[in-house]
Amino acid sequence: MSNESETFVIDDLIHRRQGAIACPYPIFAGLRETDGLVFNADLGAWIITRYDDVRSILRDTERFSSLNPTGPQAAGEALMKGIMELMQDPEMAAVLDSSAMSRGRVAVLLNADPPDHRRQRKLVNPAFRPDRIRAMEPAITEVATRLLIDVQADLAKTGQVNIVERFTVGLPMTIIALALGVVGEDLATFKRWSNDIVMPVGNHSPSTEQVKGFLLSTKQFAEYFLAQIAQRQAVPTNDLLSDIANADIDGEKLTDDEQLGMLQQFLVAGNETTTNLITNMIRCLAQDSELQERVRREPALIDGLIEEMLRFEAPVGGLFRQTKVDVEIAGTSIPAGDHLWLVFASANRDGCKFADPDQVDPERLNVKEHLAFGNGEHFCPGAGLARSEARIAIQLILETLEPFSLAADNDFHYGDSFVLRGLTGLNISTWG
Ligand code: HEM
Repeated sequence: MSNESETFVIDDLIHRRQGAIACPYPIFAGLRETDGLVFNADLGAWIITRYDDVRSILRDTERFSSLNPTGPQAAGEALMKGIMELMQDPEMAAVLDSSAMSRGRVAVLLNADPPDHRRQRKLVNPAFRPDRIRAMEPAITEVATRLLIDVQADLAKTGQVNIVERFTVGLPMTIIALALGVVGEDLATFKRWSNDIVMPVGNHSPSTEQVKGFLLSTKQFAEYFLAQIAQRQAVPTNDLLSDIANADIDGEKLTDDEQLGMLQQFLVAGNETTTNLITNMIRCLAQDSELQERVRREPALIDGLIEEMLRFEAPVGGLFRQTKVDVEIAGTSIPAGDHLWLVFASANRDGCKFADPDQVDPERLNVKEHLAFGNGEHFCPGAGLARSEARIAIQLILETLEPFSLAADNDFHYGDSFVLRGLTGLNISTWG
């Protein structure tokens, strides 16, 4: 645990010190107020912190590439060192040699540039249209209602519940499995794959054990989903997996590797992020009883609160771009080929854009202008689904549970990433 009064600098965050992950906002404020950007050698990238700069870079795919969205070091030295060490183990050497290891490693969606990216989004966007999301709402309600039975059971038995373990992990996992059409499968295995595959995002010095998990899960994921794709191509079904397996955009098919890469992103991108959004909302309501009472009285505030929490505690702290040409940002010349870390979490707290940025205000007028879902070409296709899940989750929690507050024994420990920011557990108890 860190000392609350400790002051952290950006290197503490990049090196994943808990205190810096728990409260990175003063670090970002300092960077915004000085030059707005700084080069960080360990990250191998410029850190871009002001709202206007982050937004305009996101919208400019002519000059900025997405080919390395998790940063130059994400697949860098430490990962390679772990792989080399593991190669000494015959069992792991066989895994690394298998053809499944290289499957799905193509530029797709998150790490693709136009024109490929546009072709791929044309396929994906219909699956997330508002009518398709509305059609999923009864299932979201059913899953959330079912999970709340366990939440209530824990509360009745022990007077408190770990809401992450019992609720906020399970909801997005089950919903994405439902959407893909693999819901009868082992969700704990999917969650493990998701955690392991996402590990290099915001962890640029993984342990050998973490690298091993990453490699094994990548292989198992590829084998499982390649078989599912083949099945859906033989006998199409009515789900996202089948849409992807049989996609035909303007007469062009997606390659197997593009299909696999897409599935990986759906499993990974929609999972932990949505868990963290809902956990952040529950924490906020638990520690602010006045706000909780207000939202209970006026449930219409829930939508605004979701946007405000996305702004206030961005689940994806920031992603990377690479300059295609020489550029000038905030008065600094940056050569072609350099990497930029666009810090959404900092842009969202920029006082030049959001008045009183460190206050939670569900009625903030311009709240929807936050950058938690990105902006422009790569804007998150799952935003509507994440918002629906959060709305239904919070509505049901407020309807089902007595007023709740934080339990006494929280350690507020965050996941080991400087990009994906979320509590690993949260204990709440009811007043009644
Ligand atoms: C609170 C929840 C979520 C947050 C905060 C979030 C955040 C983001 C952000 C910031 C991006 C933009 C990346 C960039 O500009 O490089 C993105 C893209 C993406 N998200 Fe989400 N996301 C969430 C939920 C979801 C869900 C539920 C899904 C799918 C089921 C999803 C799938 C994707 C995919 C496939 C991309 C890549 C899109 C592209 O590059 O064109 N996300 N997300």
